[in-house]
Amino acid sequence: MAGLADVRRGIRWGLRHGLVKRAMGQRMKAGEPTAALMIDPAINADPFPHYDDLRARGRLVDNGVVLNTAHHDVALAVLRGGDFGVVGGPSGRAPAAFRYAVKAGGRGPLGPAEPPSMLSTDAPDHTRYRKLVTRAFSAKAVAGLRTRTEGIAAELLDGLAAAGGRADLIEDYASLLPATVIAEMLGAPLDMRRQFLEWGAGAALSLDAGLSWKDFSRSERDIQALQDWMTGHFEHIRRHPGDNILSALVHAHSEDGKLTEDELTSIAMLLLAAGFETTVNLIGNGAALLTSHPDQLAVLREDPSLWPNAVDEILRLDSPVQRTGRMARRHTVAAGEPVKAGQAVVVMLGGANRDPDVFTDPERFDVARKNAGDHIAFSSGIHYCLGAGLAKMEGEVGLRALFDRFPDLAPAGPPHRRPTRVLRGYDAMPVRLSPATISA
Ligand code: HEM
Repeated sequence: MAGLADVRRGIRWGLRHGLVKRAMGQRMKAGEPTAALMIDPAINADPFPHYDDLRARGRLVDNGVVLNTAHHDVALAVLRGGDFGVVGGPSGRAPAAFRYAVKAGGRGPLGPAEPPSMLSTDAPDHTRYRKLVTRAFSAKAVAGLRTRTEGIAAELLDGLAAAGGRADLIEDYASLLPATVIAEMLGAPLDMRRQFLEWGAGAALSLDAGLSWKDFSRSERDIQALQDWMTGHFEHIRRHPGDNILSALVHAHSEDGKLTEDELTSIAMLLLAAGFETTVNLIGNGAALLTSHPDQLAVLREDPSLWPNAVDEILRLDSPVQRTGRMARRHTVAAGEPVKAGQAVVVMLGGANRDPDVFTDPERFDVARKNAGDHIAFSSGIHYCLGAGLAKMEGEVGLRALFDRFPDLAPAGPPHRRPTRVLRGYDAMPVRLSPATISA
């Protein structure tokens, strides 16, 4: 017999995902392409032609529920515009179904994008949270982490070399590199990395709309486990503070009263989840692009100063975060397009990054592309990714070290895409490490 907790979870799922899934399923059957983009797993494998289709249909396309854009200038106007706020924030503009879900089904565990997450709060709360952690991610702080990141990459590559001629590049390298860096920055135990990655994979599902009951249950279970661990870890930190971000946040809560308990948990969970679940996709997507474009790898060998540009080009062409959303606070105009108050806009970051008005021949992978850095893979405006500098440094160090050590790295079977739609990357990538270089 289902307990009360299961019934409440069922209500939360029904109102937050079941209804969306049904509404979008009906629109998908009626041929509405944005609905398919939102829920059809088949499109997930290659969403790019669908973004092109969306872009051709208009600058802001109304699917009856939300507006959608894959145009770079409209995306920028929405993300930077003061007339837009986050969806589901504490501003009281959360969609009705979300509000009823909390009323009838209770709050559920604190997901990485749930209020009061930085991702789903507007100023002034957002400004207060961001101020507490900005310094740890500054350009100076990231530059100070480069040597250690190179050391971590070298250790992991030693492990790959020692394991013989085959590896799973995601499990054995792309996930562990950023996971180790963020665990050290936060002061989280390194022996928990694989567990964090497992919980993080469940938490990542929660970013998608229209989840199945099975995925929703898994995501709530994993988020709860992560949250429970985090609460226990705060107790440990209170007794043994260190020189790390979590200690500073716990101090801001317990000593300075600058953060409530929920805010503390939410910021810590977001940093951990973002550190574990995003850069892995940059490294994985980059490895896939470079092994399938040996000519571009040759360009980088010829001119290694192009590596930072190559990382931007990877972020542009196969963006690890494919979309985000905003809601209009009042009637407004975005890049010449009218938007009504309360209207939600889905910004297809991955589609805007292939807008031919900005990127010539947008499907081409060109590590020397002059304006590769004009991508919006890290979003824009006040929510511009806090970890962008860190992620770019990790991507550059990680990919460069990998191809320097194993220049003949090649696929040893088809890679497998992760099932998430907002986050785009691989969860398995079998590779062959050339025998000539294993012992190098
Ligand atoms: C390639 C890797 C990454 C990508 C593509 C990425 C992408 C993004 C995007 C698109 C947003 C903004 C979403 C929106 O506008 O609604 C964002 C926000 C954020 N990211 Fe990242 N991210 C990456 C790595 C990281 C890392 C390593 C961290 C740090 C641990 C991090 C921490 C954050 C935080 C805290 C926010 C919220 C910022 C705010 O709301 O003010 N990210 N990221």
